[in-house]
Amino acid sequence: MTSAQVLLEEIADVGRDRVRGGYSRHVFDAAETELRTWFRERASGLGLHVEDDQNGNMWAWWTEPGPGAVVTGSHLDSVPGGGAFDGPLGVVSALSAVQALQAKGFAPGKPLAIVVFAEEEGGRFGVPCLGSRLLTGALEAGTARALRDPDGVTFAEAAAAAGLDPDRLGRDDEALGRIGCFVELHVEQGRGLIDLGSPIAVGSTVIAHGRWRFSFTGQGNHAGATLLGDRRDPMLPAAEVVAAARRIARSVPQARATVGRIVPNPGGTNVIASTVDLWLDARVPGSGVRSLVEDIAEAARAAAAEEGCEVRVTEESCSGDVVFDSGLRDELATLLGGVPALPTGAGHDAAILAGHVPTAMLYVRNPTGISHAPEEFAEPADVDGGAAALVTVLEQLCR
Ligand code: GLV
Ligand code: MN
Ligand code: MN
Repeated sequence: MTSAQVLLEEIADVGRDRVRGGYSRHVFDAAETELRTWFRERASGLGLHVEDDQNGNMWAWWTEPGPGAVVTGSHLDSVPGGGAFDGPLGVVSALSAVQALQAKGFAPGKPLAIVVFAEEEGGRFGVPCLGSRLLTGALEAGTARALRDPDGVTFAEAAAAAGLDPDRLGRDDEALGRIGCFVELHVEQGRGLIDLGSPIAVGSTVIAHGRWRFSFTGQGNHAGATLLGDRRDPMLPAAEVVAAARRIARSVPQARATVGRIVPNPGGTNVIASTVDLWLDARVPGSGVRSLVEDIAEAARAAAAEEGCEVRVTEESCSGDVVFDSGLRDELATLLGGVPALPTGAGHDAAILAGHVPTAMLYVRNPTGISHAPEEFAEPADVDGGAAALVTVLEQLCR
């Protein structure tokens, strides 16, 4: 039988990032496309019928597609320079669990599918959970079509090149209507399970989070010939956002604010930038995320004015707090011998689906407590334990 661990090893060389370390696998790029082909082959090898939906998500059906389906899966894309587990662990565990159920001679009493969602990280087009947002209508198709990657390619163009019809992007009631419940297994992205001393947990909540683009405009100029007093350097207010994000978030309980991406244009060592784009990732439990961002935007406007620059702030995505279905959560926790329930600050496709269908998450311990970085890890025994937990869960849910 092919264990989840062996499946992870099969894809271990796909999309390695030789510059950043870890993996860079972005929707419809060469690495992610190779992973899609691998998934199709692996799922077909189990006798599953694989289909792409109109939004670039892949569905592998064990039984005839139909309403009330038990769906499990995750994503295969990564952040830039990400770890090996965020996303793929849920996919390999699902394949391995289906194979184990088949080996037992289990006949699902309900339709069962493995799903691979597109662009969960927003690593190429900027909006996280793009595939599940489109599926559920959380993101308008026209907005998605117009998204651009760093090379200026629109999502519509990339989708068309991948064989999708850009005019058919958008809410997919047929695919959504078939899901009876969704269970996403995922590597834990913090220290929760280390601290609890448990290899597995069920998800309880996801905190509200979003992404905002700050675009600063100044005057490009010569780094040596332009006196300091004559400059309109957009890098200065951009730097203030980095500092303000930490300063202001520190005063809000449980808030997190991060600038992980900053792009000066044109980006030369001896060139004062003419524009700078930076992205703020902000997360606050409850309803405070937009007011946190507004406070940071206010600091940005003041710093921009002081330097004679302009700033435009654009919300690129924002999701509210999510509480996973308590009945399903408790059922799974009991089924797995009373595993703990864990909140998370990380976003997931499961959190998007939770507004539409009963949804649960299973977390697998990460001994480093590090994620979105090459150090992300799960011990082989915990990977196997996660896949075994998924077998137990699917068997019960598909009765
Ligand atoms: C996805 O992993 C996110 O939380 O940004
Ligand atoms: Mn992630
Ligand atoms: Mn993920």
